[in-house]
Amino acid sequence: MAEPDGLKLLAEDHRRVEALFEEFEGTKGKLNKARLVQTICIELKVHTLLEEEIYYPAIRGEVDEADLEEAYVEHDAAKLLVNELAAAAPDEAFFDAKVKVLKELVEHHVKEEEKQRDNLFQQTRAAGIDLKALGARLEARKAELMEQAAGKGLPPAQPATMIHEGV
Ligand SMILES: [Fe+2]
Ligand SMILES: [Fe+2]
Repeated sequence: MAEPDGLKLLAEDHRRVEALFEEFEGTKGKLNKARLVQTICIELKVHTLLEEEIYYPAIRGEVDEADLEEAYVEHDAAKLLVNELAAAAPDEAFFDAKVKVLKELVEHHVKEEEKQRDNLFQQTRAAGIDLKALGARLEARKAELMEQAAGKGLPPAQPATMIHEGV
């Protein structure tokens, strides 16, 4: 089997989450919405963990440091809403608004990772990182995390950059 390209794997995650948010917009019924949001939360918890445990450390020093720091902080902003939504019922106040704001945060973040000019993925390719080795590590860790998600479940997402109380 061909070894996976790490950036392709991460981009596939992005496409999957974009499709789920799209699906949410056309979904009616509390139960269906709740199910979909739980799936989105799992996808985003796993993806942010993969990037923060493996991808971001692998590119630190190779890409623009300010871009990378911004990515970590954007993850933390998304995690706040992910943790809220993972614990929420769809008839709660602000439920749909939280989903919408999370979608917007993710869209913005994905743009900076792989769509805008001089994005992080471009910087990664230009730096000559071993993308196959990265892909193998991401794939293995993802399998573990998805197994955990299907079993005992994933714990709330932990912020990586928030220093003060109340997060
Ligand atoms: Fe990403
Ligand atoms: Fe990210």
